[in-house]
Amino acid sequence: MKILLQNCLLLLFFMLQFALVGQVSIQSVFVENQINPQGIASVAPRFSWKLASNQRNVAQQAYSIQVKSGSKIVWNSGKVMSNQSIFVPYAGLALESNRQYHVAVQVWDQAGKASVVSKSSFSTAFLNVADWKAKWISSGIPADKEAGPVPIFTKSFVAAKSVRQARLFITSRGLYEASINGKRVGDAYLTPGWTSYNKHLQYQVYDLTADIKKGENKLDVLVGSGWFRTRIAWENNKNFYGNQTALLSQLELIYTDGSAETIVSDGSWKAGLSSIVSSEIYDGEVQDLRNKVVHWTPVIETKASFDVLKAQINEPIRKQEQIAVKRVLHTKSGKVILDFGQNIVGWVKFKAHGHSGQQVKFSHVEMLDKTGEPYFANLRSAKAQAIYTLSGNPEIIEPHFTFFGFRYVQVEGYEVVPADFTGIALHSDMASTGSFETSNPLLNQLQSNIRWGQKGNFLDVPTDCPQRDERLGWTGDAEVFSRTAAFNFNVNQFFAKWLIDVQADQAPNGAVPFVIPDVLTRTTMGKENAQVGAAGWSDASIIIPYNVYTTYGDRQVLVNQYESMKAYLNYVRGAAKNDLWNTGFQFADWLSYRVDDSKGMIGQKSAVTDNYLVAQCFFAYNTQLMIKTARILGKTDDYAEWERLLERIRLQFQKEFMTLNGRLISETQTAYILALQFDMIPESLRAAALERLVINIKSYKYHLTTGFLGTPFLNPVLTRFGRNDVAYKLLLQDTYPSWLYPIKAHGATTIWERWDSMKPDSTFQDPGMTSFNHYAYGAVGDWMYRTIGGIDTQEFDGAGYKESVIKPELGGALTFAKTSLETPYGKISSDWRLDSGVFTLQVVVPVNTSATIVLPDFGKNKRAMDGVEMMVDRVRVGSGTYQFTIN
Ligand code: BGC
Repeated sequence: MKILLQNCLLLLFFMLQFALVGQVSIQSVFVENQINPQGIASVAPRFSWKLASNQRNVAQQAYSIQVKSGSKIVWNSGKVMSNQSIFVPYAGLALESNRQYHVAVQVWDQAGKASVVSKSSFSTAFLNVADWKAKWISSGIPADKEAGPVPIFTKSFVAAKSVRQARLFITSRGLYEASINGKRVGDAYLTPGWTSYNKHLQYQVYDLTADIKKGENKLDVLVGSGWFRTRIAWENNKNFYGNQTALLSQLELIYTDGSAETIVSDGSWKAGLSSIVSSEIYDGEVQDLRNKVVHWTPVIETKASFDVLKAQINEPIRKQEQIAVKRVLHTKSGKVILDFGQNIVGWVKFKAHGHSGQQVKFSHVEMLDKTGEPYFANLRSAKAQAIYTLSGNPEIIEPHFTFFGFRYVQVEGYEVVPADFTGIALHSDMASTGSFETSNPLLNQLQSNIRWGQKGNFLDVPTDCPQRDERLGWTGDAEVFSRTAAFNFNVNQFFAKWLIDVQADQAPNGAVPFVIPDVLTRTTMGKENAQVGAAGWSDASIIIPYNVYTTYGDRQVLVNQYESMKAYLNYVRGAAKNDLWNTGFQFADWLSYRVDDSKGMIGQKSAVTDNYLVAQCFFAYNTQLMIKTARILGKTDDYAEWERLLERIRLQFQKEFMTLNGRLISETQTAYILALQFDMIPESLRAAALERLVINIKSYKYHLTTGFLGTPFLNPVLTRFGRNDVAYKLLLQDTYPSWLYPIKAHGATTIWERWDSMKPDSTFQDPGMTSFNHYAYGAVGDWMYRTIGGIDTQEFDGAGYKESVIKPELGGALTFAKTSLETPYGKISSDWRLDSGVFTLQVVVPVNTSATIVLPDFGKNKRAMDGVEMMVDRVRVGSGTYQFTIN
């Protein structure tokens, strides 16, 4: 009977589902790209929704949005005849600080059929500086100086009545971790994240309603040094943002009777020294778990800015994956090593059973050398250690204010039981959006390595690497990888947040520093180059906003960044002489192939491309993107002028770097790739230039020789000019230098900084710069999604995959590719297969979008199933699932 009832209920559920998706339904509603977010600081937050239906060609004809605060309607959009379903801005009564708002969205499909109403909510942060009543406080403890012991701040308070709503607004100069009545507040780590603290400091908002009890409560907050004052970059660059950490905390209580109370950080708080003896970003953390706070002393109220405070707009860092020990290794020299089987970023969670006073030491490395010993040299001066003195009680120990890049951990002072150790991977909690799988396992491993490179280096800031004494927001690395990043994860908020600092740190002359947050200005490199922009690096200020717009349809990012983008273009124009960018420092095609790197494995000469040839191509790229941006934003005067500028830039390129026959002064892959990618070569000479590129690739026996700036465009250029055959050969090449060499020869689990970070003879490259977790060369992921999977967006009216193109290209003996992407409108997928001479393709197009599907050049008989009419090899369709075959 019970089973029968269950079955009936199940049937009813499916029937209901069917009835609902038969018409259009709303899958989820987002506020500023998040579901039910806490602490929105925007006065006009934007609403987006994803639609679903089991029918084809479903589009939105109209929407209505209602926003309420309690029972009061603060905005009713009415029925708006529009197909806009992403980023609709709030336009009601002025929002108030620290309020809960409820959102209800309804849509109508093209036939006028209404959806069921879908609900969501958000709370506002502080919308005015004056909302802050709290004081900045410092521990006042003499030992808490320059990355000394970590202080803990405490405040006991009484909640006089039952609480209806409790929200904590909190940040620090340093990194904080709060707990309420002994329970950790929230699940975010390394808060408040990393920004250019003295100009932009994020605060977080936590809902503590369930945690505050009537009567006595206790709020405790650890404040570690973090990026704020432990050494950062090189040259022992300490106290970059200040030498005194501080806390700002405001707890807003609303009682069930409607009265309110605020508990703020001020001189009434006390501080003591915690069990964290020291904590540094590069060196790691030392804890003495026997230490309990013995002295509580009054804190000091300090002066620090309130104007720089902004509620965090991106997803915080959270724990993402737990990884078990794969093997325990005993090295020849007697070391005990845990191997987690994957190069990750985060730390080890340690279940300790030991005696009081026992000292346990973890040293983190990415690689073992060829004798099986841990390889420390590439960490440079970073100690990357966790050292714990045990209390004697069974306890679970983790670091608080540091992180490591590692696959292997050397353990000292503890009898290893593998189950006592768990690898914790941390990263910004961006939603995973892309999936990519083919019939080639090496290619799948490459995709996995690209994703892990992103996970490990998207820790609130896009960093170059996560392990050595660097871990900086290198603009060039982020720029080359940004498009790939947007396939794997939703990076809309992540980049929008980072771009605030790009703007904040931009020099008055428009130059954009090499790293953001800019912590180089005090080092030799920074001082020399404080007002200098480098092609491909500083250009991130233009390229990344544009990529964010293209992939998410987020026009607001362009609006916010426009002045910064324009100022940077003007900087480049100023650095150029007669529109030729031939001055100043350039990284150019960083880390391209050099003959002496791995003893001339593929012979030929080093692939060094003239610095200014590269710069001139990026000058054109920047200008091209500014023309497009100005068009999107309707800045007519700007783009008319830049169109003429672009012509002059190309002419200057031709005069300076090209012979009349189209030969370039640098006979390198990168030179031809960039010149072709950015249309620097007159049309009549492009075929010959392509030929030279292919001859060059063949002369290196189908190996790439490109550096950071050439690599992202290598395969796209070959595809654009009809040489997918060569692109596939390069992609599947598995000897050095190539994408698959690290996987095939050395079992790599992440992307490396150099093509030969580990050389073919298993020795290492120069330890001064040899990271095993650097995402830049993973930029080929963009081509893999766009060409093998074939998923792309139209740029202008179709940005954000409102109009997509599905155009898979066959090659490389692949027999299937399954690719999907969760776009702002819903999931697109392209799933193709080659079986006994028959090609089949299944495509899913999200509701309220359309796609042009182009079948590959294969076979004669191209057919679309289920009554879809094709124009030779292509068709434009609305939403739905479609199938095609060729034989
Ligand atoms: C970083 C790079 C960066 C480069 C620029 C290196 O130290 O790790 O990835 O782009 O410097 O010079």
